[in-house]
Amino acid sequence: MKPIEPNNFHVIDEPLDAIDVIRQQSISGDINDEPLYICDISDIINKHSIWKQRMPRVLPFYAVKCNDSPIVIQTLASLGTGFDCASKGEIAKVMSFGVAPQSIIYANPTKPKSHLEYAAEMNVSVMTVDSDFELHKIKAHYPHANLVLRIRCDAKVAQCPLGEKYGCNPDTDGKDLIELAKSLGLNMIGISFHVGSGCMDPSAYAKAIQASRKLFDFAKIIGYNFTLLDIGGGFPGDRDTDIKEIASIVNHNVDLLFPSPDVTIIAEPGRFYVSSAYTLACQVHSKRVVRQNGKFDSVMYYINDGVYGSFNCNLYDHKIVHPTTLKSADEELFKSSIWGPTCDALDQVCENVSLPRLNIDDFIIFEDMGAYTIPIASPFNGFPLPRIEYYVQRKHLEDINATTASHEYILLRGN
Ligand SMILES: Cc1ncc(COP(=O)(O)O)c(C=O)c1O
Repeated sequence: MKPIEPNNFHVIDEPLDAIDVIRQQSISGDINDEPLYICDISDIINKHSIWKQRMPRVLPFYAVKCNDSPIVIQTLASLGTGFDCASKGEIAKVMSFGVAPQSIIYANPTKPKSHLEYAAEMNVSVMTVDSDFELHKIKAHYPHANLVLRIRCDAKVAQCPLGEKYGCNPDTDGKDLIELAKSLGLNMIGISFHVGSGCMDPSAYAKAIQASRKLFDFAKIIGYNFTLLDIGGGFPGDRDTDIKEIASIVNHNVDLLFPSPDVTIIAEPGRFYVSSAYTLACQVHSKRVVRQNGKFDSVMYYINDGVYGSFNCNLYDHKIVHPTTLKSADEELFKSSIWGPTCDALDQVCENVSLPRLNIDDFIIFEDMGAYTIPIASPFNGFPLPRIEYYVQRKHLEDINATTASHEYILLRGN
């Protein structure tokens, strides 16, 4: 692993209070009318401890797409997690941090040929697949790959359902695809699923694990010995959420249906690790009062980040963001709307919220902004992307500077 440069970090002795940091910076005038993220690396390290405590048997392979910040990758690599990569670019990025190919799952069921060839070149052999076309493509370009069949098992409610696009029907196509893989002489090693990102239906994991068991049994009949179950993502990560209920359902079903330690169980958590670690400080740069028949209706605040920047999560991640301010809780509240900085009327951050009276240069703060925000943001209309300041507690410095990962998180035993 590369050591983390100490000057990338503010090392602190107490747990971070991001809003207080923003308050201090607002007083000292350090924030210069550009949006700013305060990232709490210790929060990510604490999430890893929570994960290991809640689901000790399930090895996390962090979904890089969720937030591909080099410091996040480096932190998780130092902690020894594995990684879920969606493309050649993500594989290259993760491997540049010294992550071994055996700690990577190429978890995109549809892979461009050149990306597949790159995976072969880099020895990233474990990958998901959900169609006959993909099996034939893999046969042609990476015949020694280790395949994981992605099945569809949708949560009844999820922030971002994924089943429409990925995952074969476990009851019909699943068996056919396992048979086809066998007849092509391919090596299939297990089953994966993703119940939907931001899953609000924990029972979906039970159904999916049960469906996986049936396919493990079918595969055995036709001569495969599956050794990998990948339970995907979907775990919530905001500060007021908990993975307790999902964990208890997963643990119960895994213990019941996959008691053998010969089956490695992994997951691909994204938002769980990073959402609560990032707090975004925006500043009001313009303001307009709306009147109806001469009477006050609401206030429009224009801030320095919008839906083309961090708040792309409103559109793509179906997130509802919650603004707070540095004003006292006693102040009178007014009907308000918050708008991004670009000239597009679509660029609205909050449609109808109650806020105290704010002036130009005042701050509006958004917590839980670490997932599906930064990698998607663009500088449309010439507005810069937010700067990021990283904070870590002194007691965690060793964790993030581990020079060798534990190699606990390898996908294929004996490889
Ligand atoms: C294949 C795959 N794995 C994992 C994830 C991460 O999901 P989450 O952030 O819900 O944990 C995603 C998200 O889209 C995904 O597509």
